Amino acid sequence: MNNFDFKNPTKILFGKNQIENLSKEIPENAKLLLLYGGGSIKKNGIYEQVKTALSNFEVLEFGGIPANPEYAVLMDALTIIKEEKITFLLAVGGGSVIDGTKFLSSAALYKGEDPWEILTKSIPTQKGMPFGTVLTLPATGSEMNSGSVITRKETKEKLVMGGPGLFPVFSILDPEVVKSIPQKQIANGLADAYTHVLEQYMTYPVHALLQDRFAESILQTLIEVAPRILKDTSDYNAAANFMWSCTMALNGLIQKGVPTDWAVHMMGHELTALFGIDHARTLAIIAESHYTYNLETKKEKLAQYAERVWNVSEGTLEEKALAGIKKTTEFFHSLGIDTKLSEYTKDYKGTAEIISKRFTDRGWKGLGEHGKVTPSDVEKIVEMSY
Ligand code: NZQ
Ligand code: ZN
Repeated sequence: MNNFDFKNPTKILFGKNQIENLSKEIPENAKLLLLYGGGSIKKNGIYEQVKTALSNFEVLEFGGIPANPEYAVLMDALTIIKEEKITFLLAVGGGSVIDGTKFLSSAALYKGEDPWEILTKSIPTQKGMPFGTVLTLPATGSEMNSGSVITRKETKEKLVMGGPGLFPVFSILDPEVVKSIPQKQIANGLADAYTHVLEQYMTYPVHALLQDRFAESILQTLIEVAPRILKDTSDYNAAANFMWSCTMALNGLIQKGVPTDWAVHMMGHELTALFGIDHARTLAIIAESHYTYNLETKKEKLAQYAERVWNVSEGTLEEKALAGIKKTTEFFHSLGIDTKLSEYTKDYKGTAEIISKRFTDRGWKGLGEHGKVTPSDVEKIVEMSY
């Protein structure tokens, strides 16, 4: 097992009616900015619950943060934060609203000239404006981690940022919010969380027995709960297990002491930036090609995954590894998610070269757990995903 430090300061309030406890978590004299997305919270009652819980606070609002939070929109919110001397941010939404809020938390205290540099120069945020979240969509784990992904339409870029100052102070996870989520977003959440686990597991063995079993148990829970939550979003127990699995998949715990990959995400982000494909679906497009292309370096873990998660008992190590890849693709299909780029756009020719060149231009020499997936490998992997 590798050495590690572990600190996760986010307080979780999990369960029915936890939104009622919101006011207890916010500093008394805070001047709040409530941030939300395209308006789903106004249709499903979450907005009302939040407003009621905040009745004793001075609250300004900023709505309209789009899926794949857009830099230009966030810059309008930043103006309000500065002009109104906001002291606390509250994100009410999914990964996009939470990530947008993280950017604002960092940008509000940023001393440099142009906050876009936080992303292009990978400046870690040591201290941000404090913020909390009310999660409305289980998927990204953003509610309990310190990462954020911001999109800039103007340049067709989607870049990551983070740092120890970007953990939410608290996050409210009420599984009842799952009721109103459309099927497509439920499928996205399942696929995103599933791939988060794979990115932290599908590497090479380092005798981290507990971390492996944490990861496998999250995958097994997602597999078990997927058909139930897709069939009936008001199944509270299914929703609760779905929600907690998504949080646990990316709150830092399972990646401690083990190598991590994240190449599927890096390639996937480019597909969202270029074509606007939903984040989770880009992962489903890349995963099979990435694991097949890197079979040699990943086969032990792939085979272990096939055995323990999918009960594959026949065949050589390599055959089991390949069976694991096949099962993964079948799982995405069972969620109604297509796994080939050509099923999303007719414009896919040349994509692999564009993405590979972007990685070269950014100076990214090698991705993955060994840092050996070069831009030229990326080109081949993306091409295999057409
Ligand atoms: O905008 P509104 O109207 O709220 O509608 C949203 C949006 O259209 C809707 N929705 C959310 N909660 C709902 C609901 N509809 C009905 N009922 C509810 N309770 O769902 C749509 C998608 O929301 P979004 O927040 O974009 O989805 P998700 O949570 O999947 O977030 C995706 C973003 O997170 C980033 C992705 O790249 C993408 O930009 N990621 C962030 C990560 C992190 N910070 O750790 C890791 C991930 O790998 C990912 O990259
Ligand atoms: Zn993801």
